[in-house]
Amino acid sequence: MYKISEELAELGKRRIEGYPVEGFVWGSGPKNPAIMLVGEAPGENELETGIPFTGRAGKELMASLESVGLAREDVYITSAVRSRPYKWGTKKKRNGEIIERKYNRAPTKKEIIAHALILDTEIRDIHPPLIVTLGNIGLQRLIGPKAKVTELHGVLIESPIQYWDDEESCFKETADVYHIFPTFHPASVFYNPAVRELKDEDWRRLKELLGKVK
Ligand code: URA
Repeated sequence: MYKISEELAELGKRRIEGYPVEGFVWGSGPKNPAIMLVGEAPGENELETGIPFTGRAGKELMASLESVGLAREDVYITSAVRSRPYKWGTKKKRNGEIIERKYNRAPTKKEIIAHALILDTEIRDIHPPLIVTLGNIGLQRLIGPKAKVTELHGVLIESPIQYWDDEESCFKETADVYHIFPTFHPASVFYNPAVRELKDEDWRRLKELLGKVK
């Protein structure tokens, strides 16, 4: 198993303090994974279990992994942000009572920057043969803000990636070239069922790539 240092985790927690986020879920997986998966941020379920992708989206992701002959133990799972970003909203209970509750939301740029050193360290230490980004947040974190999953999904990108330069407070490009394979976030099929076909086709292509990239 690979784990970032306690010091780096503490730094991330300090940097994200004051934003509407809660908890901290560690990345999870072996030191030499077949692939690295980069998601968005943990949600309510992940906060409860302490393990990435254990909710509804996690089930969908595990099915995709299985379709290419992989299991959770074979891959390293992380995300752009390691705390759960939330927003307050209301929910009507069955008895008609209206309650306030927290809902998951996408992380902001500032939250992504607060945890950027964590993801950079994971990528540098593990140096995975292939990075699979799940959705726009993970893709844009690595390739830049103009990248769009709808345009880039299902195709292997060989390119430097963005890392956070702490001294200059900006993202820069790595000297190293990485293999990036963008696909949709597994939860996107819940909001847009038409995505399922495209996502499944991406995973079929990914299966062909596995073992070919180093
Ligand atoms: N979405 C993510 O990006 N990560 C999780 O762990 C769960 C949902």
